[in-house]
Amino acid sequence: MFRINLNLQNADRDIAAVVMEQMSSRALNSNKVIDNKSGDGSDYLGWSTLPEEMNSDEVARIKSVASKLRGQSELIIIIGIGGSYLGAKSVIDALSSSLGNISKSPRKDPMIIYAGHQISGSYANEVKNLISQYETSVIVISKSGTTTEPAIAFRFIKEELEQKYGKSTASSRIVAITDKSRGALKQLATNESYETFDIPDNVGGRFSVLTAVGLLPIAVAGFDIQLLLDGAKQMQELSKTPNNIMEQYAAIRNALYSSGKKIELMASFEPKLQYFNEWWKQLYGESEGKKNRGIYPSSVIYTTDLHSMGQYVQEGERTLFETFIKVKQQRDDMEILMNAENLDGLNFLAGMKFGEVNSVAEQATILAHIDGGVPVIEISIEKLDEINLGSLIYFFERACGISGYMLGINPFDQPGVEAYKNNMFALLGKDGYEELREELTNRIK
Ligand code: PA5
Repeated sequence: MFRINLNLQNADRDIAAVVMEQMSSRALNSNKVIDNKSGDGSDYLGWSTLPEEMNSDEVARIKSVASKLRGQSELIIIIGIGGSYLGAKSVIDALSSSLGNISKSPRKDPMIIYAGHQISGSYANEVKNLISQYETSVIVISKSGTTTEPAIAFRFIKEELEQKYGKSTASSRIVAITDKSRGALKQLATNESYETFDIPDNVGGRFSVLTAVGLLPIAVAGFDIQLLLDGAKQMQELSKTPNNIMEQYAAIRNALYSSGKKIELMASFEPKLQYFNEWWKQLYGESEGKKNRGIYPSSVIYTTDLHSMGQYVQEGERTLFETFIKVKQQRDDMEILMNAENLDGLNFLAGMKFGEVNSVAEQATILAHIDGGVPVIEISIEKLDEINLGSLIYFFERACGISGYMLGINPFDQPGVEAYKNNMFALLGKDGYEELREELTNRIK
């Protein structure tokens, strides 16, 4: 049974039928390039078969380590940046309370926090303070094992754990997810006998949520990773059929791009999807923004952002299109109350559910934006659960590969990310960067 529905009727109305035909045929070919492994970056296509090929022993080991960490921890810190944390956070947030894990103790689930995804000293201190208060375990994730942000976060977190528990117990509270043989984190994990999961060589960071990178944190948060994989597997199966929804999405966004729509706004009326949008932005931004090409991925959560970005979307420069992720069923809902005084004049809403009003707001917004000249793509899922999220993850990953090949770039590398790193290392005085340091210091003067 299929769970995701794609509606293009408000997106392709201004695109000539012949253009849509060309784009559909290019999408079909690009999808084949993924299966044939005949395109650029084909060494990094492991994600495309992960759902079908995921080893059941690996899933069992992830579940067992997750259960051990849950049993021994009030606080679990996920250390990682970019593809090494966004996928996990997007799923955990989508399935968790929007208000966080704020129930009075004893908590059913450990608190999950993130570190190593920026370099803020005050954030680091806040994390340090929490470690002193709660029974803590750590999942440190870095494919390269050499990324600065998670590495410097892990330095102090490891130190705090060792001071609190002693070296040997601290080691039993740390799990490393990294390359199977290379990198500083692998070396450290071996030296310190950490429980370790390997990130497959052929899966890049932003495509790694369905490996231990995403699955262990998601399992630790208490969610069913097998259902997530099952949802992804359904979508992988669908990707084998011609003119599937992944090809259609890739085709329409490239058709819109060629007609001058340079910005894609991922929009949702469900605030739990805020980090799903962040994951999607990294996936598409880092995959497609190359050779001075690429749709700029942006995102909004409505109705909140209708009160900040709504004006621009309605009447600003006509270079954007919107992709709505619509969630049909709310997990819990609540009725709007009758008020005797009715000062706000809103008694006509009394008895309706918040979710019903939200759906009407969604429909009203879509109609207004279409009238304002914004093409709208609609992606609907039944509800926020593991199986739908798994399907959605594979949908966007596959469409990203297809779309990137249509654009004529390698969707699986990220050479541009090095530019800031080189400058940063030079300015911080790392050995080997002396010449660049001199050049940059002169520019700053
Ligand atoms: O998608 C990517 O490759 C990046 O976002 C990486 O995930 C990010 O830079 C973190 O890299 P690493 O896992 O090597 O620390």
